[in-house]
Amino acid sequence: MNIPNCPVGVFDSGIGGLTVVKELQKFLPNENIVYFGDTARLPYGSKSKRLVTKYSLENTIFLNSKNVKIVVIACNTASAASADFLKQFIKIPVIGVIEAGALLAAKYSKNKKVGVIGTKSTVKSRAYSKYINKLDPTIKVYEQSTPLLVHIVEENWINKNITKSILKEYIDPLIKLGIDTLILGCTHYPLLANSIKECTKSITLVDSSTAIATIVQNTLEGKKILSNRKTKGYTHIYLSDLTPEISIWMNDFLGENFIGKIKKYNSQLL
Ligand code: DGL
Repeated sequence: MNIPNCPVGVFDSGIGGLTVVKELQKFLPNENIVYFGDTARLPYGSKSKRLVTKYSLENTIFLNSKNVKIVVIACNTASAASADFLKQFIKIPVIGVIEAGALLAAKYSKNKKVGVIGTKSTVKSRAYSKYINKLDPTIKVYEQSTPLLVHIVEENWINKNITKSILKEYIDPLIKLGIDTLILGCTHYPLLANSIKECTKSITLVDSSTAIATIVQNTLEGKKILSNRKTKGYTHIYLSDLTPEISIWMNDFLGENFIGKIKKYNSQLL
């Protein structure tokens, strides 16, 4: 096994984690990427910590079977529930998306009032508050669960007027609390960034996919396992369910320069 040229493993409950894949492709164009999206069992955000940890473990075992050199949890819900457990379970580095977003928010907030939107499970875990307050205990963190948004993205209702009304309903209470920074605490939400910006105006949005790409790069560099490939890497995408709608959406999202393949993965684990 040639570790530097082994792929980077990424998983999410669905297609939202592809926002992280896009950033990784930009930052680390020579890396191969294996992505697993658990579309058959989405959403994770309304499930118990125990079940999300079980799914995350199964996803990690699948990625490990593809000889990945690092596992990126491109799902806030799975990071909150299982990052600590997975770090102990597997010998390769495991990076969770929450630590990345917390780091950026603590850096950006001037008035030390940070809002977070995320799934019910992520908000219930208070993982963002814990990470941010570890960095700076004086920052006030206000967390708001926004359970409808994952379905809106998966249905591709991104630019509908009703989506803008729902966003306003969720985000206005945070704006009233005076936040100057808002964490998009779910990897599906960057796909709604334009509509979110219409509600938040001058508030700084934190998209943890950018932050996580830098952390992955630093980790690979630190462990001397960056790819030494000179050509562009491929991305293999495995989904536990693949509908025609998702295929169309993914082809649009990944664009024509996409090098790789999209497959349905039928595992006995699932
Ligand atoms: N994309 C996942 C996250 O970042 C959540 C989607 C779900 O509820 O499954 O939290």
